[in-house]
Amino acid sequence: MNVLLVGSGGREHAIAWKVAQSPNLSRLYVLPGNPGMAALAECVALKIEDHAAVVRFCKEKRIDLVLIGPEAPLAAGLADDLSASGFRVFGPSRAAAQIEASKVFAKHFMARHGIPTARYAVFQRYAEAVEFLKRVDYPVVLKASGLAAGKGVIVPETNEEAGAALEAMMVHREFGAAGEEVVIEERLRGPEVSLMAFSDGRTVAPMIPAQDHKRLLDGDQGPNTGGMGAYAPVPICPPEMVAEITETVLQPAVSGLRLEGRPFVGVLYAGLMLTESGPQVLEFNCRFGDPETQAVLPLLESDLLEIALACAEGRLQEVKVRWKDGAAVCVVLASRGYPSAPEIGKPVHGLDALPPDVFCFHAGTRIVDGRLVTAGGRVLGVTGRGGSLAEAVQSAYDAVASIRFEGMHYRKDIAHQALPAARRTAGRSGAYAAAGVDIDAGNRAVELMKDAVRSTYGPEVLAGIGAFGGLYDAAMLKEMKSPVLVASTDGVGTKVKLAAAVGRYRSIGHDIVNHCIDDILVQGARPLFFLDYFAASKLDPNLVAEVVTGAAEACRAAGMALLGGETAEMPGVYAEGEFDLAGTIVGVLERASALPRPGIVPGDVLVGLRSSGPHTNGYSLIRRIFENVPLDTVFPELGIPLGEALLAPHRSYLSLLWPLIGAAPHLKALAHLTGGGFIENLPRVLPEGVAALVRRGTWPVPPLFCLIQSLGALDSFEMHRVFNMGIGMMAVVARDGVRAFQQAIDEETYVIGELISGERTVILE
Ligand code: AMP
Ligand code: GLY
Repeated sequence: MNVLLVGSGGREHAIAWKVAQSPNLSRLYVLPGNPGMAALAECVALKIEDHAAVVRFCKEKRIDLVLIGPEAPLAAGLADDLSASGFRVFGPSRAAAQIEASKVFAKHFMARHGIPTARYAVFQRYAEAVEFLKRVDYPVVLKASGLAAGKGVIVPETNEEAGAALEAMMVHREFGAAGEEVVIEERLRGPEVSLMAFSDGRTVAPMIPAQDHKRLLDGDQGPNTGGMGAYAPVPICPPEMVAEITETVLQPAVSGLRLEGRPFVGVLYAGLMLTESGPQVLEFNCRFGDPETQAVLPLLESDLLEIALACAEGRLQEVKVRWKDGAAVCVVLASRGYPSAPEIGKPVHGLDALPPDVFCFHAGTRIVDGRLVTAGGRVLGVTGRGGSLAEAVQSAYDAVASIRFEGMHYRKDIAHQALPAARRTAGRSGAYAAAGVDIDAGNRAVELMKDAVRSTYGPEVLAGIGAFGGLYDAAMLKEMKSPVLVASTDGVGTKVKLAAAVGRYRSIGHDIVNHCIDDILVQGARPLFFLDYFAASKLDPNLVAEVVTGAAEACRAAGMALLGGETAEMPGVYAEGEFDLAGTIVGVLERASALPRPGIVPGDVLVGLRSSGPHTNGYSLIRRIFENVPLDTVFPELGIPLGEALLAPHRSYLSLLWPLIGAAPHLKALAHLTGGGFIENLPRVLPEGVAALVRRGTWPVPPLFCLIQSLGALDSFEMHRVFNMGIGMMAVVARDGVRAFQQAIDEETYVIGELISGERTVILE
C-alpha cells in the first residue's frame, strides 16, 4: 500500500515509525515531515492548505490511504476533499472534527448524548458573561470556543483572575476568533488521563490510557505547554475503568456523531478528569494526542496500518487491536525560552547510539548544512519502554542523559507521581501472584474478550463490562400482556475436560449458552440475557477469551446479551490445570403461552428433534469409555476425529421452536433431554397418571451412541438414562396436530412414541 501521512511533529514521527513496520506498506510519504521521519519516508514539500495540490499528489502517487495527524487540516476539511476524490482517509471530516474545533459544539453535544462533563454556560456577549461570573457559586474554568493551539483554556484561581481572563478573551481577542464564543464551566478536581480510541464511525477500540504533563516545570509548576512528556498505561485508570469510559464516553460520542450525520473516522481523544463522581470529559480531540502518542504507539502490538485501513473502510470490528505488556514513558526535550520565545538553530548531539528499546521522535528539528539543529520549542520526544513503569522511566532518562543541545530543558519527573501506584499494583499482583493468583491474567482475559461480549449488546444494555452489575432496560416488558421472567443456571460439566484434551475451547462456550437457552425454551420463554462463570486453578487469558467468545457467539445468534460474568482463579480449589464453566440465563415468557400447558393426556404424541451429539451429558462416562483411545482416532462410522465428534456443540432449538410457542395450540409441552436422558427428563412435564411410551427404532440413533454402547458394553436402558440417543428435544403434541407440527418445523422430526395412562415414568419399548 502507498500511504500519505500529513503532519510534522513528534506525534506524526511516532505514527510514521509504527506504520513503517507494517508488512503491507509499499511506500510512505509524509507531508511535510521532519528529519526524523525522513529516515522512514519520503518527505513531500507541498502546502497542506492547498487541498487541490494534495489531491493531485495522491492521484499521481496512487495513494491507498491518507492519515492526517494534526487538527488544523481536519478542521479545514482536508479529509472531506480527499474522500470526495475517492481516497480512503484515516481522520475525521470537517463536520466530525467540530468535536474538537468548537468547544461550544462539544459541550452541547455531550449534553445531548448524556456524556459526563462539567456543567457549563456559553456566552457570545461580554456583559452577560461578566454577569454570570458574578452570580456563579462554583469555581470556574474559561474556554475560548475555537481552536487556540491548546492555549485557549484558563483555570483562574480568583474572581479577579477570572474577570481579567474573560476580558482578554472577549474584549482584547487574545485568542483571535477562537474567543468569539466562550464556555464557562465548572472547575472539576481530580487526576487527568487521556484515553484515545480508534473509530470507524460506528464502533470504537480504545487504546491504552496515557497521561500528559502540560506544565513546563517539575512538580506541575510554570506555564502550560503543548506537553512536556507522557506515559502509558496509567495505573489509576485500570482496564475496568477504560471499559467504563469506553461505554460512557467513547462509544456514546461515536454513536452520537453518527446519529447526527457526522460519522467520526480516525482517532477520538478524550481528555478526562477522574473525579469523585467518576470520569468526566474535559475535552475531545479529533486526532492522536501529542505527546501521548509517542508513549502509546510503542506499546501497540498490532499493525497500525491495518487498523487505520479498517477504520477508513468501516470495518474496525474485523481487526484485533492488541497491546504489549509493560509501559512506555516519553520525555520531551525543549528549547530554552519555550513556550513563549524558544531559541532555535542549536546543533543536536548524541542521537546515534540509543539503545534498542528507546525511540527518539523528532518534533522541532531541521537539517542545516548537513547538521541536525533545533527548529522549535519542543525538539525531541524520547520514549523508553520497559517491563514496568519504573523500568520505562529509567530507560527514557538514561537515553536523555546522552542527548545534548544548548539550552536543552526537560522535566525530571515524568511519570514519577504514578510510580508509587504502579509499584502498588505491581506489588499487589505480585502478592497475589505469589499466592498463585494472577490479576493481570484476569484483566488480559477481559481485554481479549470484550469486543465479542460487546457485539451481543443491543440498545437495552445500559451497563455491561466494567460495571458492578449489568443493567438491562426492561421497558419492553410493558408491551407484553403478562410477562413472566424465567431464570436458569447450568454447567457444562466434565465436557470441559474433553475440550482441554482436544485444545478447542470455543465450542464449550456455545454449549453452556445453548444448554441454558433450551432449558428455558421448554417453559415457553425466549432469552433476554446471559451471565457466565469461568473458574480455574490458573487463568490462561487466551483460553478464557476463547471460551467467552464462544459464549458471545451463541448469545448473539440467539439475540441475547452477554450481560456479565465472572472469571475466577482459585488454585487449591480446582486441581492444577482444571477449569469449570457455568452460566445463568434470564428469559421472559407470556404467561398465557407458558409450557407445559394443562391438558396433557394419554393419546398425545411424542415428537423428537435431532441432537447434534451428546450435548452436555454423559461425559464422565464417555471419558471413561474412551480413556485409552487417542482423540484423533477416526472411527469409520464417525468419519471425523473422535475428539471433534464428542465436542460437537449443544444445539439451540430456539429458532426452530420459538415461532411455534404461543402460536401452535397443539404444542402442549417440550422436554429438553439433558442429564438423566430419556428416562428422567420426560416425566418432568407429565401430569399425574400419565406415562410415556418411547418406541426404540423409530428414529435413527447416530453412530456415536452405538460406538459408546458397544465399547462401554452398556445396556439399552442405561444408554437411554444417560444419553439423548440422537434426540435432543421432545415435544408433546395433541394427536390431531402432529402433522401440522411436523410440517411447521424446517427439518426432519420423528414420532417416537405416545403418552399412555400410568405412573409418571417412561416405558421403553
Ligand atoms: P482542555 O484543553 O479542555 O483539556 O483544557 C486544558 C487543561 O485545563 C486540562 O488539561 C485541565 O487541566 C484544565 N481543565 C479544563 N477543563 C477543566 C475543568 N472543567 N475543571 C478543571 N480543570 C479543567
Ligand atoms: N496532549 C494534549 C493534546 O494532544 O491535545
